[in-house]
Parts: sequence; structure tokens; C-alpha cells
Amino acid sequence: MSTLITNIAELMTQDLEHRVLKDAAMVIEGERIAWLGQAASAPAADDAVDAGGRAVLPGWVDSHTHLVFAGDRTAEFEARMAGEQYSAGGIAVTVDATRRTSDFDLTRLAMARVSEAVSLGTTYLETKTGYGLDTEHEARSARIASTVADEVTYLGAHLVPAGLDADAYTDLVCGPMLDAVRPYVRWADVFCEKGAFTAEQSRRVLQACRDAGLGIRVHGNQLGEGPGVQLATELGAASVDHVNYLASQDVAALADSWTGWDPSTGTGARGTVATCLPACDLSTRQPLPPARALLDAGAQVALASNCNPGTSYTSSMAFCVATAVLQMRLSVHEAVRAATYGGALALHRETGNDADGERAVGSLAVGHRADVHMLNAPSATHLAYRPGMPLTYAVWRAGVPAR
Ligand code: NIG
Repeated sequence: MSTLITNIAELMTQDLEHRVLKDAAMVIEGERIAWLGQAASAPAADDAVDAGGRAVLPGWVDSHTHLVFAGDRTAEFEARMAGEQYSAGGIAVTVDATRRTSDFDLTRLAMARVSEAVSLGTTYLETKTGYGLDTEHEARSARIASTVADEVTYLGAHLVPAGLDADAYTDLVCGPMLDAVRPYVRWADVFCEKGAFTAEQSRRVLQACRDAGLGIRVHGNQLGEGPGVQLATELGAASVDHVNYLASQDVAALADSWTGWDPSTGTGARGTVATCLPACDLSTRQPLPPARALLDAGAQVALASNCNPGTSYTSSMAFCVATAVLQMRLSVHEAVRAATYGGALALHRETGNDADGERAVGSLAVGHRADVHMLNAPSATHLAYRPGMPLTYAVWRAGVPAR
């Protein structure tokens, strides 16, 4: 079954050539993109959709969320808006509520959050454990996450539970807990920050998880300058997320990590993506990350929602893109790229076509996964020009209409 989408005013491919086509069309065949180009030369297909002069871009790739949770942190948010500082300790409130929730309810909550994200144009999504914090509940979160998300990250090292010795808990995270989550996860993460895990504990977690065959990522430099970025780049993490407080050597390390990679072909050794989470920064009143400086230095940047109950209770990638343009000085094309190709790069899912087992996500090209987002607007510029407006018109996820 093939579908021709025609009369596309602007087709922002986010492919390796950064092509933006006007008066364009594309053909979806099964789960893949079979053709794209000028509407006037489009081939015939079984079915046709008239885009009506709307814009089309890749579906959002949300590379950082925490969707497996129960409970509510409205009171903490209200206190923060009244002047309280965010601290990692709030995580314990969600851990308590999550542990008390049945598998059935926790799965339904997570599924509903994924549906909400898809309805806003997200077509590929990562989510983490981290609200279980003992072996039984981390394994349960990982199992549930694996049924609702495309990629699952083990975040047993989110917070040291009250009353436990930090080093003994780190041993658990690196040993029995890791063994229990291993069947369900592809990635591991650590919250390397004051009030969470020290550089040494973080290193132990990352090394153990890497030795177990997991890709690694780091929550770093969120609440102050710290060792997160240096650790992430030194250990070859796929991403370091938050990156609000960066010293000049952090920016340089992130840029340098990409020197073995060729952006024009997408080949070579990937470095560490700097993942910016602007919705979180607004909700915690932290400074926005220096995304402009990172791009100018040659780093690769992703934008993600960080949807979670404590610091960022939104899965709106459009909101992140608008913020990146309006307040972080990215162009619309750069912001959309960070929220699509950048997220895919952070998840090592930006390559793959008909010849490979897995199809690329985060960009539109022949052989890539047909993850397509049609806006109710003639250009992607409207994402920033009309911030907060419901601009998602239609979504295809792996070729299947999803909204
Ligand atoms: O990415 N920073 C650590 N983890 C989450 C917040 C978790 C919470 O407060 O519940 C984040 O912001």
C-alpha cells in the first residue's frame, strides 16, 4: 500500500543535505519513505492525501523523557514558582507514589503520556526508569517502559534512596539491579549532580553499564557547573543532557568529541550530543543552555522535552522548538533539526535505510522510516511565529496514520 502526499508548501527534510523543498510531494510505502521531490514529478500511488499547502517535517524524536511514574508534584511546582529552588530530593515523592501503583495503572499512565506526545507530533521516543530505585521496582519500570517507548534507558542512579549509603546503593545499581533491568533496556544514564551522584559514583555506574553492553548517557551540568560533561565526553557517552552550566572547556569538549564524524555523510565515530531541555529550564527557573555557542563551536545539539512530574511536565516538542528560536537564538531550521535529527543522533538512530535492519528516524529521505509530521501552517517558521498554538495537523508513525 502506498500513499502520495502532495501539495506540500514546504518539505523540511532534515536530511544530510539539509534540503527544504517547496511545492513538494512524498510517497509513503508501508513503513518507509519511497519517494520525495517536486510535486510536479511525483509518481502515482494507491492513495493520495492533499496537504493543502501545509508544511511537512520529520516527526519529533524526543530523546529524553521520564514517563513511567505515578503521583503529582503540583505543590512542589507551586512552591518553586513562589521562590523555592529545585532540588533532586523531590524525586523521592514520585518514587513513593510509583511504587504504590499497580503494573496495570502504571502502564496505562505511561501509555497515555506516549499518546499525548504522539498527538503533538512525536514519532520516536525514549523513556527512562528512575522512579523505582530498588531492584524490583526498577525492573518493573524497565519492563513497562519497554512496552510503551521506542528506546528505554536505565536510570537506577537517579537518586540515592533515603537511609541508604550512597556507595552501597551504587554497588546495587552496578550489580543486581543492572542484571534485573538488562533484558529491557538499551541505554544507561546517571544523574551526576550535587545531591545525586558524585563524579566517582557516576563513573562506576557508567563503566559497569557500558561493560554490560549498554550505551551510556549522562544528566549533567543541570544545577551548576560540574563534572558531567567531562565524564560523558571522556567515556564516549551518546549524550549529556541538561548542559545549563557550561565552562568554556565543556563547550570545547563537546565540540571536539565530533572531530571523527563527517556531518556531510553522517559517517565516522559519533561524539557526545548536547541535549538541551528548555521546558525543564523554564519550569525550574534555570538559565537556558548555551545552544547557540555549542552549535557555533561545532557541537551537535538535540532538543528534548524531559517530560517528567518534577521539572518538566510537558511533552510538547513544539514548545521546546519555539523556546529555542525565541530565547536560545537558534534558527527555525536549527531548532527543528535539534528536535528531529539531533534526537535521533543522541539515540544512534539517525542512520539506516532499505539495506539495513533498522530504518533511520529524525529525517525524511528514501528508505528512512516514514515518521511524518504535517503542520496546520505553510512553513515550519510558524512553530516559533505562533508559539503555543496547536499546529500539529497530521502524523504518520512508521507509515501508519497516528493522528
Ligand atoms: O531530568 N534531573 C534529574 N531528573 C529529572 C527530574 C526528576 C524529578 O525531579 O522528578 C530531570 O529533570
